[in-house]
Amino acid sequence: MSAKNGAIKLVAGNSNPALAQAIAGWLELPLTKAVVRRFADMEIFVEIQENVRGSDVYILQSTSYPANDHLMELLIITDALRRASARRITAVVPYFGYARQDRKSGSRTPISAKLVANLITHAGADRVMTLDLHAMQIQGFFDIPTDNLFASPVMVRDIKDRFDLAKVMVVSPDVGGVVRARGLAKRINTPLAIIDKRRERPGESEVMNVIGDVAGYTCILVDDIIDSGGTLVNAADALLAHGAKDVYAYITHGVLSGGAVTRVTSSRLKELVITDSIQPTEAVRNAPNIRTLSIASLIAEAIGRTAAEESVSSLFD
Ligand code: R5P
Repeated sequence: MSAKNGAIKLVAGNSNPALAQAIAGWLELPLTKAVVRRFADMEIFVEIQENVRGSDVYILQSTSYPANDHLMELLIITDALRRASARRITAVVPYFGYARQDRKSGSRTPISAKLVANLITHAGADRVMTLDLHAMQIQGFFDIPTDNLFASPVMVRDIKDRFDLAKVMVVSPDVGGVVRARGLAKRINTPLAIIDKRRERPGESEVMNVIGDVAGYTCILVDDIIDSGGTLVNAADALLAHGAKDVYAYITHGVLSGGAVTRVTSSRLKELVITDSIQPTEAVRNAPNIRTLSIASLIAEAIGRTAAEESVSSLFD
Protein backbone atom coordinates (compact mmCIF):
# COMPACT_ATOMS: atom_id res chain seq x y z
CA MET A 1 0.00 0.00 0.00
CA SER A 2 1.42 3.39 -0.92
CA ALA A 3 1.44 6.04 1.82
CA LYS A 4 2.02 9.67 0.94
CA ASN A 5 2.06 11.21 4.38
CA GLY A 6 4.63 9.10 6.16
CA ALA A 7 4.44 5.52 7.36
CA ILE A 8 0.93 4.43 8.39
CA LYS A 9 0.47 3.82 12.11
CA LEU A 10 -2.68 2.55 13.80
CA VAL A 11 -3.27 3.43 17.44
CA ALA A 12 -6.21 1.87 19.26
CA GLY A 13 -8.07 3.28 22.23
CA ASN A 14 -9.95 0.96 24.57
CA SER A 15 -13.44 1.35 23.06
CA ASN A 16 -13.36 -1.50 20.56
CA PRO A 17 -10.18 -3.61 20.58
CA ALA A 18 -11.73 -6.34 18.40
CA LEU A 19 -12.59 -3.88 15.61
CA ALA A 20 -9.15 -2.24 15.87
CA GLN A 21 -7.49 -5.64 15.56
CA ALA A 22 -9.68 -6.55 12.58
CA ILE A 23 -8.88 -3.25 10.81
CA ALA A 24 -5.18 -3.84 11.44
CA GLY A 25 -5.58 -7.36 10.02
CA TRP A 26 -7.17 -6.08 6.80
CA LEU A 27 -4.40 -3.50 6.41
CA GLU A 28 -1.76 -6.11 7.28
CA LEU A 29 -0.26 -3.67 9.77
CA PRO A 30 0.43 -4.17 13.47
CA LEU A 31 -1.27 -1.92 16.01
CA THR A 32 1.24 0.60 17.33
CA LYS A 33 2.40 -0.27 20.82
CA ALA A 34 0.69 2.11 23.21
CA VAL A 35 -0.50 2.11 26.78
CA VAL A 36 -3.80 3.71 27.67
CA ARG A 37 -4.37 3.31 31.37
CA ARG A 38 -5.82 4.94 34.46
CA PHE A 39 -4.30 6.58 37.50
CA ALA A 40 -5.89 5.58 40.80
CA ASP A 41 -8.28 8.54 40.57
CA MET A 42 -9.32 7.41 37.04
CA GLU A 43 -7.38 10.09 35.18
CA ILE A 44 -6.38 8.72 31.79
CA PHE A 45 -2.72 8.31 30.97
CA VAL A 46 -1.37 7.50 27.50
CA GLU A 47 2.08 6.46 26.41
CA ILE A 48 2.86 5.77 22.74
CA GLN A 49 5.66 3.23 22.93
CA GLU A 50 6.96 3.52 19.35
CA ASN A 51 8.42 6.32 17.31
CA VAL A 52 5.66 8.05 15.33
CA ARG A 53 7.67 11.08 14.17
CA GLY A 54 6.62 11.94 10.64
CA SER A 55 3.97 9.18 10.52
CA ASP A 56 0.44 9.16 9.13
CA VAL A 57 -1.41 8.07 12.27
CA TYR A 58 -4.97 6.73 12.53
CA ILE A 59 -6.51 6.61 16.00
CA LEU A 60 -9.22 3.93 16.18
CA GLN A 61 -11.75 4.90 18.83
CA SER A 62 -15.56 5.01 18.98
CA THR A 63 -16.94 7.43 21.54
CA SER A 64 -19.38 4.78 22.71
CA TYR A 65 -20.37 3.83 26.27
CA PRO A 66 -18.86 5.05 28.55
CA ALA A 67 -18.92 7.98 26.14
CA ASN A 68 -17.03 10.50 28.24
CA ASP A 69 -14.18 8.13 29.08
CA HIS A 70 -13.77 7.06 25.47
CA LEU A 71 -13.93 10.64 24.23
CA MET A 72 -11.30 11.70 26.76
CA GLU A 73 -9.08 8.77 25.70
CA LEU A 74 -9.37 9.91 22.09
CA LEU A 75 -8.39 13.48 23.02
CA ILE A 76 -5.45 12.42 25.15
CA ILE A 77 -4.14 9.97 22.54
CA THR A 78 -4.37 12.77 19.97
CA ASP A 79 -2.43 15.10 22.25
CA ALA A 80 0.26 12.47 22.85
CA LEU A 81 0.66 11.89 19.10
CA ARG A 82 0.81 15.60 18.30
CA ARG A 83 3.54 16.11 20.88
CA ALA A 84 5.34 13.07 19.43
CA SER A 85 5.53 14.86 16.04
CA ALA A 86 3.17 12.66 14.02
CA ARG A 87 2.93 14.19 10.55
CA ARG A 88 -0.84 13.74 10.23
CA ILE A 89 -3.41 12.50 12.75
CA THR A 90 -6.77 11.08 11.68
CA ALA A 91 -9.37 10.40 14.36
CA VAL A 92 -11.24 7.32 13.13
CA VAL A 93 -14.46 7.41 15.15
CA PRO A 94 -16.80 4.71 13.78
CA TYR A 95 -19.49 5.67 16.31
CA PHE A 96 -19.53 9.41 16.99
CA GLY A 97 -21.21 9.80 20.38
CA TYR A 98 -23.07 13.02 21.23
CA ALA A 99 -24.22 13.20 17.59
CA ARG A 100 -27.86 13.32 18.62
CA GLN A 101 -27.19 16.67 20.31
CA ASP A 102 -26.74 18.40 16.98
CA ARG A 103 -29.08 21.36 17.51
CA LYS A 104 -30.57 23.39 20.33
CA SER A 105 -33.50 21.22 21.38
CA GLY A 106 -34.86 24.01 23.55
CA SER A 107 -33.91 27.28 25.17
CA ARG A 108 -30.66 27.21 27.13
CA THR A 109 -29.57 23.78 25.86
CA PRO A 110 -26.17 22.91 24.36
CA ILE A 111 -25.12 21.76 20.92
CA SER A 112 -22.83 19.11 22.33
CA ALA A 113 -21.97 17.55 18.95
CA LYS A 114 -20.34 20.87 17.99
CA LEU A 115 -18.49 21.02 21.30
CA VAL A 116 -17.13 17.49 20.75
CA ALA A 117 -16.07 18.44 17.21
CA ASN A 118 -14.21 21.45 18.66
CA LEU A 119 -12.52 19.28 21.29
CA ILE A 120 -11.29 16.76 18.72
CA THR A 121 -9.99 19.53 16.47
CA HIS A 122 -8.29 21.47 19.24
CA ALA A 123 -6.67 18.32 20.62
CA GLY A 124 -4.75 18.18 17.34
CA ALA A 125 -6.59 15.95 14.87
CA ASP A 126 -5.94 16.86 11.23
CA ARG A 127 -8.80 14.79 9.82
CA VAL A 128 -11.78 12.81 11.03
CA MET A 129 -13.24 9.62 9.62
CA THR A 130 -16.59 8.45 10.92
CA LEU A 131 -19.54 6.28 9.91
CA ASP A 132 -23.22 7.02 9.33
CA LEU A 133 -23.33 10.28 11.24
CA HIS A 134 -26.69 10.87 12.86
CA ALA A 135 -27.06 14.01 10.73
CA MET A 136 -24.92 14.73 7.67
CA GLN A 137 -24.51 18.39 8.64
CA ILE A 138 -22.39 17.37 11.65
CA GLN A 139 -19.55 17.12 9.09
CA GLY A 140 -19.74 20.90 8.98
CA PHE A 141 -19.12 21.13 12.73
CA PHE A 142 -15.50 20.27 11.94
CA ASP A 143 -13.23 22.78 10.23
CA ILE A 144 -10.93 19.93 9.21
CA PRO A 145 -11.57 17.33 6.48
CA THR A 146 -14.20 14.86 7.68
CA ASP A 147 -15.14 11.70 5.83
CA ASN A 148 -18.55 10.30 6.70
CA LEU A 149 -18.51 6.65 5.57
CA PHE A 150 -21.65 4.60 5.03
CA ALA A 151 -22.32 1.08 6.26
CA SER A 152 -24.77 0.58 3.40
CA PRO A 153 -22.44 -1.45 1.11
CA VAL A 154 -22.00 -3.99 3.94
CA MET A 155 -25.74 -4.05 4.63
CA VAL A 156 -26.73 -4.25 0.95
CA ARG A 157 -24.47 -7.26 0.46
CA ASP A 158 -26.09 -9.03 3.41
CA ILE A 159 -29.65 -8.12 2.37
CA LYS A 160 -29.08 -9.32 -1.21
CA ASP A 161 -27.71 -12.62 0.12
CA ARG A 162 -30.64 -13.26 2.44
CA PHE A 163 -33.85 -11.91 0.96
CA ASP A 164 -35.99 -12.27 -2.13
CA LEU A 165 -35.95 -8.56 -2.99
CA ALA A 166 -39.24 -8.77 -4.89
CA LYS A 167 -40.97 -9.17 -1.51
CA VAL A 168 -39.00 -6.59 0.46
CA MET A 169 -39.98 -3.07 1.48
CA VAL A 170 -37.52 -0.72 3.20
CA VAL A 171 -39.06 1.30 6.02
CA SER A 172 -37.89 4.43 7.78
CA PRO A 173 -38.97 4.26 11.44
CA ASP A 174 -39.45 8.03 11.53
CA VAL A 175 -39.68 10.99 9.20
CA GLY A 176 -36.15 12.12 10.12
CA GLY A 177 -34.65 8.94 8.69
CA VAL A 178 -36.27 9.05 5.26
CA VAL A 179 -33.17 10.13 3.32
CA ARG A 180 -31.14 7.27 4.78
CA ALA A 181 -33.87 4.68 4.16
CA ARG A 182 -34.54 5.95 0.63
CA GLY A 183 -30.82 5.61 -0.15
CA LEU A 184 -30.86 1.96 0.86
CA ALA A 185 -34.16 1.25 -0.95
CA LYS A 186 -32.64 2.73 -4.13
CA ARG A 187 -29.56 0.54 -3.85
CA ILE A 188 -31.61 -2.64 -3.60
CA ASN A 189 -34.40 -1.38 -5.85
CA THR A 190 -37.32 -1.90 -3.47
CA PRO A 191 -40.25 0.31 -2.46
CA LEU A 192 -40.11 2.55 0.60
CA ALA A 193 -42.55 3.09 3.46
CA ILE A 194 -42.35 5.65 6.26
CA ILE A 195 -43.62 5.61 9.81
CA ASP A 196 -44.97 8.93 10.94
CA LYS A 197 -45.17 9.14 14.72
CA ARG A 198 -47.66 11.69 15.93
CA ARG A 199 -49.09 12.74 19.27
CA GLU A 200 -52.44 14.29 18.34
CA ARG A 201 -52.99 15.94 21.75
CA PRO A 202 -50.70 16.41 24.75
CA GLY A 203 -51.03 13.50 27.19
CA GLU A 204 -52.38 11.14 24.52
CA SER A 205 -50.24 8.24 23.42
CA GLU A 206 -48.30 8.43 20.17
CA VAL A 207 -50.03 7.22 17.00
CA MET A 208 -47.92 5.40 14.43
CA ASN A 209 -49.17 6.16 10.92
CA VAL A 210 -47.67 3.92 8.27
CA ILE A 211 -47.26 5.73 4.96
CA GLY A 212 -47.17 3.06 2.25
CA ASP A 213 -48.90 -0.29 1.82
CA VAL A 214 -46.73 -2.79 3.67
CA ALA A 215 -49.26 -5.66 3.63
CA GLY A 216 -47.62 -8.94 2.64
CA TYR A 217 -44.10 -7.47 2.50
CA THR A 218 -41.00 -8.39 4.43
CA CYS A 219 -40.18 -5.03 5.97
CA ILE A 220 -36.62 -3.91 6.63
CA LEU A 221 -36.38 -1.02 9.07
CA VAL A 222 -33.29 1.13 8.52
CA ASP A 223 -31.85 3.60 11.02
CA ASP A 224 -28.54 4.95 12.27
CA ILE A 225 -28.91 4.15 15.97
CA ILE A 226 -30.74 1.73 18.19
CA ASP A 227 -30.50 2.92 21.77
CA SER A 228 -33.37 1.91 24.09
CA GLY A 229 -34.94 -0.07 21.24
CA GLY A 230 -38.29 1.68 21.73
CA THR A 231 -38.40 3.21 18.24
CA LEU A 232 -37.78 -0.10 16.49
CA VAL A 233 -39.94 -2.34 18.62
CA ASN A 234 -42.91 0.04 18.28
CA ALA A 235 -42.28 0.38 14.56
CA ALA A 236 -42.24 -3.42 14.16
CA ASP A 237 -45.58 -3.70 15.99
CA ALA A 238 -47.11 -0.97 13.80
CA LEU A 239 -45.91 -2.66 10.60
CA LEU A 240 -47.25 -6.06 11.65
CA ALA A 241 -50.57 -4.42 12.58
CA HIS A 242 -50.68 -3.09 9.01
CA GLY A 243 -50.23 -6.56 7.56
CA ALA A 244 -46.44 -6.80 7.08
CA LYS A 245 -45.34 -10.43 6.69
CA ASP A 246 -42.35 -10.04 8.98
CA VAL A 247 -40.01 -7.30 10.16
CA TYR A 248 -36.21 -7.09 10.19
CA ALA A 249 -34.00 -4.12 11.09
CA TYR A 250 -30.58 -3.01 9.81
CA ILE A 251 -29.10 -0.39 12.13
CA THR A 252 -25.53 0.89 11.94
CA HIS A 253 -24.83 1.66 15.60
CA GLY A 254 -25.96 -0.79 18.28
CA VAL A 255 -25.92 1.53 21.29
CA LEU A 256 -28.39 -0.83 23.01
CA SER A 257 -28.38 0.75 26.46
CA GLY A 258 -30.33 -0.28 29.55
CA GLY A 259 -32.80 -3.07 28.88
CA ALA A 260 -32.60 -2.71 25.10
CA VAL A 261 -31.32 -6.22 24.39
CA THR A 262 -34.15 -7.79 26.40
CA ARG A 263 -36.62 -5.47 24.67
CA VAL A 264 -35.36 -6.65 21.28
CA THR A 265 -35.23 -10.35 22.14
CA SER A 266 -38.79 -10.28 23.49
CA SER A 267 -40.08 -8.20 20.56
CA ARG A 268 -41.70 -9.29 17.33
CA LEU A 269 -38.63 -8.24 15.32
CA LYS A 270 -37.44 -11.31 13.41
CA GLU A 271 -33.87 -10.08 13.46
CA LEU A 272 -31.89 -6.98 14.31
CA VAL A 273 -28.69 -6.60 12.31
CA ILE A 274 -26.13 -4.11 13.62
CA THR A 275 -22.49 -3.40 12.83
CA ASP A 276 -19.47 -3.61 15.11
CA SER A 277 -18.98 0.19 15.13
CA ILE A 278 -19.63 -0.30 18.86
CA GLN A 279 -18.15 -3.38 20.50
CA PRO A 280 -21.05 -5.82 21.04
CA THR A 281 -21.57 -6.78 24.69
CA GLU A 282 -21.88 -10.40 25.76
CA ALA A 283 -25.67 -9.94 25.98
CA VAL A 284 -25.71 -8.74 22.35
CA ARG A 285 -23.51 -11.63 21.23
CA ASN A 286 -25.82 -14.14 22.94
CA ALA A 287 -29.10 -12.61 21.79
CA PRO A 288 -30.86 -15.06 19.44
CA ASN A 289 -32.28 -12.37 17.14
CA ILE A 290 -29.33 -9.95 17.00
CA ARG A 291 -26.56 -10.39 14.43
CA THR A 292 -23.46 -8.25 13.92
CA LEU A 293 -21.85 -7.39 10.58
CA SER A 294 -18.28 -6.17 10.60
CA ILE A 295 -17.35 -2.82 9.08
CA ALA A 296 -13.62 -3.54 9.57
CA SER A 297 -12.85 -4.08 5.88
CA LEU A 298 -14.75 -0.93 4.89
CA ILE A 299 -12.85 1.22 7.37
CA ALA A 300 -9.55 -0.43 6.48
CA GLU A 301 -10.17 0.32 2.81
CA ALA A 302 -11.00 3.96 3.62
CA ILE A 303 -7.83 4.29 5.70
CA GLY A 304 -5.76 2.76 2.90
CA ARG A 305 -7.23 5.17 0.36
CA THR A 306 -6.77 8.16 2.65
CA ALA A 307 -3.12 7.25 3.17
CA ALA A 308 -2.62 6.90 -0.57
CA GLU A 309 -4.53 10.16 -1.27
CA GLU A 310 -7.11 8.22 -3.30
CA SER A 311 -10.85 8.80 -3.52
CA VAL A 312 -12.86 7.59 -0.54
CA SER A 313 -16.27 8.55 -1.90
CA SER A 314 -15.87 6.12 -4.81
CA LEU A 315 -16.10 3.32 -2.23
CA PHE A 316 -19.84 4.08 -2.16
CA ASP A 317 -20.59 4.52 -5.88
C1 R5P B 1 -33.23 9.20 16.33
O1 R5P B 1 -33.38 10.18 15.64
C2 R5P B 1 -32.35 8.06 15.91
O2 R5P B 1 -32.22 7.99 14.52
C3 R5P B 1 -32.90 6.75 16.45
O3 R5P B 1 -34.16 6.52 15.86
C4 R5P B 1 -33.03 6.79 17.95
O4 R5P B 1 -31.83 7.20 18.54
C5 R5P B 1 -33.41 5.42 18.47
O5 R5P B 1 -33.55 5.50 19.84
P1 R5P B 1 -34.30 4.40 20.68
O6 R5P B 1 -33.76 3.06 20.28
O7 R5P B 1 -34.00 4.77 22.11
O8 R5P B 1 -35.78 4.50 20.38
